[in-house]
Amino acid sequence: MPSVLVAAWLVSFLSPGSVALDLALEGAWKGWKEQHTKVYLEEEEVFRREVWEKNLRRIEQHNWEASQGKHSYWLGMNHFGDLTDEEFNQLLNGFRPDPDLINQRPVFQESPLLYLPESLDWRAKGYVTPVKNQGHCGACWAFSATGALEGLLFNQTGTLVPLSEQNLIDCSWKVGNHGCHGGYITQAFEYVRENGGIASEHDYPYVEQEESRCRYDPRIRAANCSSLVRVQAGSEGALAQAVATVGPVSVAVDARSFFFHFYHSGIFASSWCGQQVNHAMLLVGYGTAQEGGKPIDYWILKNSWSEKWGEEGYMRLVRGLDNHCGVASQASYPVM
Ligand SMILES: *[C@@H]1O[C@H](CO)[C@@H](O)[C@H](O)[C@H]1NC(C)=O
Ligand SMILES: *[C@@H]1O[C@H](CO)[C@@H](O)[C@H](O)[C@H]1NC(C)=O
Repeated sequence: MPSVLVAAWLVSFLSPGSVALDLALEGAWKGWKEQHTKVYLEEEEVFRREVWEKNLRRIEQHNWEASQGKHSYWLGMNHFGDLTDEEFNQLLNGFRPDPDLINQRPVFQESPLLYLPESLDWRAKGYVTPVKNQGHCGACWAFSATGALEGLLFNQTGTLVPLSEQNLIDCSWKVGNHGCHGGYITQAFEYVRENGGIASEHDYPYVEQEESRCRYDPRIRAANCSSLVRVQAGSEGALAQAVATVGPVSVAVDARSFFFHFYHSGIFASSWCGQQVNHAMLLVGYGTAQEGGKPIDYWILKNSWSEKWGEEGYMRLVRGLDNHCGVASQASYPVM
C-alpha cells in the first residue's frame, strides 16, 4: 500500500472523534463488501467506510438531479466505492499523452466527401473481445492498444483473438512505456511493429502487475502491425470517419472526475470533464439517442474496468459537442 494511504487511514484511526458513520448504512456497507469481496484491517475499515459513504451520497445526489432532468446520465456505486478521487487517479489512469502527436505522420484527415452511416457498432460485427479488467495496474494504454490490434486482426483473418496486455507491460519499456505506471498507446503499437508481433492473452496471460522478465517469443506471435496512423488531433469529424472506415480506434479521455469513475448509464456529458486526457479507451462505434425528446449524438467507448462499470463495461459519451473529455485529441490505430 502506498505510504500516503497508510498515513490517511492512520490519521482517521487516531482521531475517532472526527468520524461520524451513518449507522443506517450498516447493512448496505456489509452487502457492498461481500459483493466485491473487500476485506480490511480493523484500523483501515473506518476510513474506507467514510470514503464509501461520501461517494454514495454524491452518487445519490447526482441521480436525484438526473431524475429532475438535469443530467443525461446516471451514476452507480461500484467496486471503486472505497477509493478517494486522488487514489483512483493514482491507481488507474495511466495514459501518457503523446508529445509528438501534432508533428508526426501519417495522419488520418477528415475528407469532405465521405459518406458515413448514421450509426455504427463494431461489437455487432464481431470485432470486439469481451470487456477486460485492468485491476490495480495503470495499464489502460495497453488495454486500449490490444483492443485496436484485436480489431485489425479480426479484419485480416476473420477470427477474434484476445491479445496480451501483459506482453506490452513486460516488454515495451525500451520504447518508453512504464508498465503499470502508465504508457503511450502509440508506443505500444510501435513496440509490436519493432518486435514483429504480439502474443495472445491465452499464451501470455494478464497478472495485474509488472513482471521482471519479458516472456515474448516469436513462436507465440498472434498478431502484427506494420505501422500506426494518428487521427487529426481534436477533430471529431475525422475520428468518426476513421472509426467508420477502419474499425475500432484507440482514444484517450479525461477520466479524472468522480462522475467518470462512478458512471453507470446514459450519455455522459459533464462540466467536470476537461481536455486533459489521462485514460486510454477503445472507440467501437457511435450513434444517436433521444433524450427528453431531443436527439443527442454519442460515441461508444470500451473501458477496461470490468463489466461492473458503466453499461456492461462501456460508456456512451456525448459526440459532436466540444470534443468532450478530449476524446478526439489523441486517437490512433495500427495498420498492417
Ligand atoms: C476489412 O476491412 C476492409 C476495409 O477496410 C473491408 O472491406 C473488409 O470487409 C474487412 N474484412 C472483414 C473480415 O471485416
Ligand atoms: C509479422 O511481421 C514479421 C516481421 O515483418 C513477419 O516476419 C511475420 O510473418 C509477421 N507475422 C504475422 C502473424 O503476420
